[in-house]
Amino acid sequence: MPKVLVATVKPFAPAAVNEIKKITEQAGYDFALLEKYESQTDLISAVKDVDALIIRSDKATREVIDAAENLKIIVRAGAGYDNIDLEAATAKGVVAMNTPGQNSNAVAELALGMMVYLARNQFNGKAGTELRGKKLGIHAYGHVGKLVGDIARGFGMEIFAFDPFIPKESIEKDGVTVVDSAEALYQTCQYVSLHIPANAHTVKSINYALLSKMPANAVLVNTARKEVIDEAELLKVFADRPDFKYISDIAPDCKDEIAEKYEGRFFFTPKKMGAQTAEANINAGIAAAKQIVNFLEKGDTTFQVNK
Ligand code: 3PG
Repeated sequence: MPKVLVATVKPFAPAAVNEIKKITEQAGYDFALLEKYESQTDLISAVKDVDALIIRSDKATREVIDAAENLKIIVRAGAGYDNIDLEAATAKGVVAMNTPGQNSNAVAELALGMMVYLARNQFNGKAGTELRGKKLGIHAYGHVGKLVGDIARGFGMEIFAFDPFIPKESIEKDGVTVVDSAEALYQTCQYVSLHIPANAHTVKSINYALLSKMPANAVLVNTARKEVIDEAELLKVFADRPDFKYISDIAPDCKDEIAEKYEGRFFFTPKKMGAQTAEANINAGIAAAKQIVNFLEKGDTTFQVNK
């Protein structure tokens, strides 16, 4: 009987775990749960006899994949799969998948929530500013980027986007102005919201050249990955531009320096919170469990990311 392990340092909402358990048991599989584990060693020993693995931002390294002798499929319940060693998975014939779109609304709501929080001076009682009428640049118009635009439109923001991988017309039909370079986006928009994945092309790609182009009272919003920011250059922008602010779902490595020198100009969640809602957990968890059943029963490889 195949065994499915849900391994999450940051646990799913209990309702999501129940749903995953129900789907896997209905398929006749064994279900196992490893939550809030403290080291990779715990993960490595837990995967030894599993056929399928569901993770969040947990690190599916080569060591983990190699230790899982029966492993056939890993599903990252979420969007970004930079935490899976895809080469190791492919080398071992393990299918890796994500569950695109399933947690996007939660992330998009957090992006707007953090923008309001910062615009209102972190609710400290002093007069803040409004989002209405401000220009918002969406850097990558995938599932989350599109929803950020949809919500921001409700706030009365003017929406721009840059995404070289999506046809211009399909973005424009949402009432979004498409620009043809990242430079143009940063030059145009007071607010820029990042939705690019972390990969070899994007790591440290958000740099001084881009950020220094932003208009007065610039705000960079990061619900993507901290790795896409060139932190040395981010610090230079903080130093050069007293009007620059940065909000991020997870603190940068240079958070202490920012906190020490630039009070009131940043907000960082203490833990990655974007997808941390019951709804997102349930959607992504159910999708992950169903994708595993469909793969093991029918060989369905929709959403495979290591083809
Ligand atoms: C994602 O890539 O789906 C988000 O960053 C959420 O990650 P999490 O499941 O670790 O919260």
